[in-house]
Amino acid sequence: MRREIVAGNWKMNTTPAQGVELLKSVAAVKGEAKSSVELIVCPPFTHLCSVIDAAKGTGIAVGAQNCADEAKGAYTGEVSAEMLASMGVEYVILGHSERREYYGETSEKLVKKMKLVYDNGMVPIYCIGEKLEEREAGKEEAICRAQIEEVVFSLSESQFEKLVIAYEPVWAIGTGKTATAEQAQDIQHFIRKVLAEKFGTLAEKTPILYGGSCKPSNAGEIFGKKDVDGGLIGGAALVAEDFIGIAKAF
Ligand code: 13P
Repeated sequence: MRREIVAGNWKMNTTPAQGVELLKSVAAVKGEAKSSVELIVCPPFTHLCSVIDAAKGTGIAVGAQNCADEAKGAYTGEVSAEMLASMGVEYVILGHSERREYYGETSEKLVKKMKLVYDNGMVPIYCIGEKLEEREAGKEEAICRAQIEEVVFSLSESQFEKLVIAYEPVWAIGTGKTATAEQAQDIQHFIRKVLAEKFGTLAEKTPILYGGSCKPSNAGEIFGKKDVDGGLIGGAALVAEDFIGIAKAF
């Protein structure tokens, strides 16, 4: 039995006040989902303190969307893993395709970020996934394999045991075009197989989330698949009823 997780990636949306309201709205309807489903929200850096305060006692965990690849020092505009951990952040999304594509996030940087996240007692939600042209060229497995080998294979067993993976096909993010449940299952089964090449049976326990235009109406079918352990939700995480509607799909 693996963990069941629904995580909301708020991306660059909401003001701090709206973020606190959204958290409160999610908390108010959280009881509609099974209590075994773990909920995580990932607001922008600017809201973390106030959202963490509002989340106290709700059972909702708070994550960040990124962190610096250096521990501290003269890196203007960056936010360190230590700063996040000191605020009470529990998870950090790393390797999101938007960061890979728009901000030049490389595997080399992600290895450094992963280490800092673990060193500060937090857990990475590591995102992988292929672009449309890569899927059309039948390269989705090769892309996911490389994104795993180059970053996840650098972890120790005790680090790997905590890791959460999110498979997010880039062509499904914010496009309204979801992977079919079969497509999600096929590639997530493959991802688990690659993880097992390095970490053996520990890979059976790794939560692998699906992300990309996930909504209450399609979550049930996708989460029903054996190797899909929940979702990393973008747009639908900005509406409390939709976010919980997705969590209810388990
Ligand atoms: P959407 O749910 O808006 O497609 O975004 C998915 C995503 O990128 C979550 O990280």
